[in-house]
Amino acid sequence: MRTIPSGLDRKEAELYSQLDPHQFPKHVAIIMDGNGRWAKRRHLPRIAGHRRGVDSVRKVVTTASNIGLSALTLYAFSAENFTRRPPTEIHFLMKLLHRYLKNELPLMHRNNIRLSFIGRSHMLPQEVQERMAWAKEQTAHHTGMVMTLALNYGSRSEIVDACKSMVNAAANNGGLEHLKIDEESLNRHMYTSNLPDLDLIIRTSGEMRLSNFLLWQAAYAEIYVTKTLWPDFNGVHLLEAIKEYQSRERRYGGLNEPSPGSSN
Ligand code: FPP
Repeated sequence: MRTIPSGLDRKEAELYSQLDPHQFPKHVAIIMDGNGRWAKRRHLPRIAGHRRGVDSVRKVVTTASNIGLSALTLYAFSAENFTRRPPTEIHFLMKLLHRYLKNELPLMHRNNIRLSFIGRSHMLPQEVQERMAWAKEQTAHHTGMVMTLALNYGSRSEIVDACKSMVNAAANNGGLEHLKIDEESLNRHMYTSNLPDLDLIIRTSGEMRLSNFLLWQAAYAEIYVTKTLWPDFNGVHLLEAIKEYQSRERRYGGLNEPSPGSSN
């Protein structure tokens, strides 16, 4: 008899019982898209969609933690969001984030979740940076799921930053003749170096793009796109994505056939 983690609702528990406990992804990342469309369909301002988006974040984080994922990474604000959205919307999103990082702390404590951030956060408003540092510190001792928020994040700039970081590390460690560039060393300088390999990327609201999100890390990840808009997405949808993930055959460029001479 399988043990169903406590905290799942009836529908989640039913889906969970259909999953293979040995094939759970360790690291799931989500491109949370469709807040604006959700609001538009209801003749509401875009910010109403973002507000509902926070409720979805709460639901998904809770379920992800309940089912024992090691890492959940959420694309909260892309670098492009900052340059291409009206200042009033950016201001609202920053206020939402500032409030989120305080209001959701009890959830992080209850679920033993450690908060982490990726992206060029030094470009965010000062009070947001301070709140981020505070929330990170408050959860630093937690040992459960790592929840990473990508803020002012862009994958290409991450790769540029990783290259600079490698060069600086070599310069400070005996000189550039010690610079060693290979996949493993570059990986160690990515923002995500503390996280397990990415297994699954979910994108809501139907667009078939990675939008400059975790391009390096996505090399062998499965991609799951759903038409569901982010404010409608919840723990059941997360489990549906994991179910689909488990039905895929991951080959990492190999053949995944029995090796010659093996009996099965
Ligand atoms: C995409 O919807 C969503 C965003 C740009 C922001 C994501 C923010 C949230 C989910 C809420 C805040 C999150 C935290 C963690 C505080 P969109 O506006 O691009 O939607 P559209 O494509 O339908 O216009």
